[in-house]
Amino acid sequence: MKVKLWFGAAAVALVAVVQAQDMSDEAIAERIKPHASIKIAGAEDASASAGAGGPRSGETVYNNACVACHGAGVLGAPKLQVAADWQPRIDERGMDMLLQNAINGYNAMPPKGTCGDCSDNEIQAAIDYMIEGT
Ligand code: HEC
Repeated sequence: MKVKLWFGAAAVALVAVVQAQDMSDEAIAERIKPHASIKIAGAEDASASAGAGGPRSGETVYNNACVACHGAGVLGAPKLQVAADWQPRIDERGMDMLLQNAINGYNAMPPKGTCGDCSDNEIQAAIDYMIEGT
């Protein structure tokens, strides 16, 4: 009898605590936030590419991963914003194929330009940046 009473009291207390908490959307979002962040930090691939700061700009990706070859045209790489280097490729293959080649690798062009944690969208942004003005 005593035990039952205790459980009863505990249940009432629990309900009171839950009701006392702010159940607004913001409050709920705030409460689950730490958990959500931990999940993102643990997801290796996604965290680096689409992590806290969102996707990196094409210019940032280019400067991190592509400039080494595409800056000076190493190994025949089409150079940054040099139309004569890019236009024939765009004409011949089209943008979709260029993106596919950048993602999968193409001759001396390594897959994703060695940017292993780049998303496809970030590779696309880097290409857009490289062909800007061409
Ligand atoms: C190790 C040097 C190297 C790095 C780093 C590199 N590239 Fe390249 N890339 C090349 C070379 C060489 C080619 C020309 C390949 C060919 O036409 O035979 C090329 C070609 C390309 C092409 C044209 C593909 C086609 O179908 O004509 C794209 C697009 C491209 N790179 C994107 C990128 C992007 C985006 C990055 C950075 C994320 C990057 N590359 C990093 C060497 C590199």
